[in-house]
Amino acid sequence: MSAESSPRPESALPLGRELVLKVIPMPADCNANGDIFGGWVMAQVDLAGSVLPARHVQGRMATVAVNQFIFKQPVRVGDILSFFAHVERIGNTSITVQVEVFAEQFRSQGAYVKVTEASLTYVAIDDQGKPRKIPRGTVQAPT
Ligand SMILES: CC(C)(COP(=O)(O)OP(=O)(O)OC[C@H]1O[C@@H](n2cnc3c(N)ncnc32)[C@H](O)[C@@H]1OP(=O)(O)O)[C@@H](O)C(=O)NCCC(=O)NCCS
Repeated sequence: MSAESSPRPESALPLGRELVLKVIPMPADCNANGDIFGGWVMAQVDLAGSVLPARHVQGRMATVAVNQFIFKQPVRVGDILSFFAHVERIGNTSITVQVEVFAEQFRSQGAYVKVTEASLTYVAIDDQGKPRKIPRGTVQAPT
């Protein structure tokens, strides 16, 4: 990609979101175009999205839905990816989380470009894999 067509870096990272994962994709994570494979990004987002629900669920959970997934910009080998998450909704047995992914590109560390945003829902499950109620009052609201 030429310098003229590079996406403009974000001026600021999202407020009120928690940094839940940082990872650097490697050549083995590429698709046939040489960009990072979308399925690899989805797997990282699923892991990152589970971090905040895990604090509430206090046990087993499963991803029940990917409500939305937008690949806004390609990800390249060597980008430093930062995953920020925010709990959108806590239901009876489920928690919905928004995940935003920002890249510091290989030669532009410190400048952040949003590459992906997604919404996922996780369900607390019991030992039989059935939905169970999310325990209340176990987590302090993040400040
Ligand atoms: C997760 C699972 C246990 C839920 O069982 P279920 O019988 O469908 O559960 P329910 O219909 O009672 O719904 C449970 C919760 O999930 C939510 N939910 C169910 N389907 C949903 C969907 N498509 N989108 C968003 N939320 C959904 C319900 O709203 C409910 O939330 P609430 O209790 O907070 O209101 C079951 O679907 C399952 O085992 N799925 C496979 C999970 C898995 O293997 N994930 C990894 C995929 S690689």
